[in-house]
Amino acid sequence: MSLAQAWRAQAARLPAPARWIQGLRPAICPLEPLAAALPAGARVLDIGCGHGLLLAALRSDGRIAGGLGVDCDARAVERAQLLAQPPELVFQIQDATAPLPPGPWPAVVLCDLLHHLAPADQRALVRRAAALLAPGGVLAIKDMAPRPRWCALMNRCHDLVMARQWVRHQHAAVVAGWCVDDGLAVAAPQAWRAWWYAHWLVVARRPA
Ligand SMILES: C[S@@+](CC[C@H](N)C(=O)[O-])C[C@H]1O[C@@H](n2cnc3c(N)ncnc32)[C@H](O)[C@@H]1O
Repeated sequence: MSLAQAWRAQAARLPAPARWIQGLRPAICPLEPLAAALPAGARVLDIGCGHGLLLAALRSDGRIAGGLGVDCDARAVERAQLLAQPPELVFQIQDATAPLPPGPWPAVVLCDLLHHLAPADQRALVRRAAALLAPGGVLAIKDMAPRPRWCALMNRCHDLVMARQWVRHQHAAVVAGWCVDDGLAVAAPQAWRAWWYAHWLVVARRPA
């Protein structure tokens, strides 16, 4: 089963309309490259986990042992909890700008969270996420690109409707630089476009 299929199977367990909206995400989001960056069998901290579908899909597919998903949206976390498998897979309400669950973690994911934060909070969160990594641990940051501008504008409109928020896109190179400053080894950022959604992925590793 592909990760997209596993994601849709998990989304089908959510109530409508979340199951339809969330079920569309594999069509616009590069899930496979993000998943490929995570160590097989790891426990993963997903910050800004939304409805919990990334962890639930990875776990149902046997790619990870489990993990913890946190999000500030109580309604999203309530739905994520429908997919939980305690004690291996747990979801809880948590603001990413407040103290995070303690580490060390073999893998930390920020998937489409950064652009929802103010720039100073983006920088602080990357530093705090990096500090949670175990030696050899991976920080995978996937976000929406500020270029091309028309794609960023379309994504702004999307988030105005979906999140009622004026989002702040950050450049992958800037985030990669933050990771280097935080002592991580960083692979070259990757980029994709699906429809009008332009994405980047930064994968950083704490030296063993
Ligand atoms: C675009 S959604 C991505 C959800 C999930 N990571 C995914 O890829 O399906 C952005 C998520 O970030 C969450 N979020 C925004 N600001 C946050 C904050 N300050 N703390 C925690 N979560 C936050 C939102 O509630 C939302 O669930």
